[in-house]
Amino acid sequence: MKAILGRRSIRKFTGENIPDGDVKKFLEAAMAAPSACNQQPWHFIVLRDKKTHEEIMEIHTHSKMLSKAALGIIVCADPDLQTCPGFWVQDVSAATENILLAVHSLGYGATWCGIYPDDDRVWKIRELLEIPKNVFPLCIIAIGVPDKEKPPSNRYKQDRIHFEKWRTD
Ligand SMILES: Cc1cc2nc3c(=O)[nH]c(=O)nc-3n(C[C@H](O)[C@H](O)[C@H](O)COP(=O)(O)O)c2cc1C
Repeated sequence: MKAILGRRSIRKFTGENIPDGDVKKFLEAAMAAPSACNQQPWHFIVLRDKKTHEEIMEIHTHSKMLSKAALGIIVCADPDLQTCPGFWVQDVSAATENILLAVHSLGYGATWCGIYPDDDRVWKIRELLEIPKNVFPLCIIAIGVPDKEKPPSNRYKQDRIHFEKWRTD
């Protein structure tokens, strides 16, 4: 609960490095996610090259936090790996959230930047990173050492919860 409720999108980084051992932990967390029929249709592209970060920031105008990030992880889905068709978005979203939680619990910060279903971003990022045409880049996660703390945000809304049937009274 501490990791889940304390996680926030971090967009200001110090520019410091993150060791490979911790990046492996993020990816272990990703691949521990649940997936439909346990199909695990994911692939991950780890991006440390600052030139690539620059190129992504040009394609994806809401990913400027990459400028001081230690790395980006592109979370991809290969629908051909599905055994329960149609569930890949949920599978790779679960993997993405696991990365965010692992990053936060290890003292780093991250922001989920959506790529899919924006066609322009999908095609340009596919081309830039030589991702096969049948594979979808879902998002890029910008990860770094946080430059400042962000307090938890309480979004609990009792009126969004229904018991047994959809009742609003
Ligand atoms: C599917 C998805 C796409 C998002 N895309 C972006 C993005 O492109 N750029 C960005 O700065 N934040 C992005 N976010 C982060 C949200 O803005 C953020 O999660 C939301 O404002 C709640 O803040 P919090 O993460 O600090 O709790 C995205 C989040 C999700 C789940």
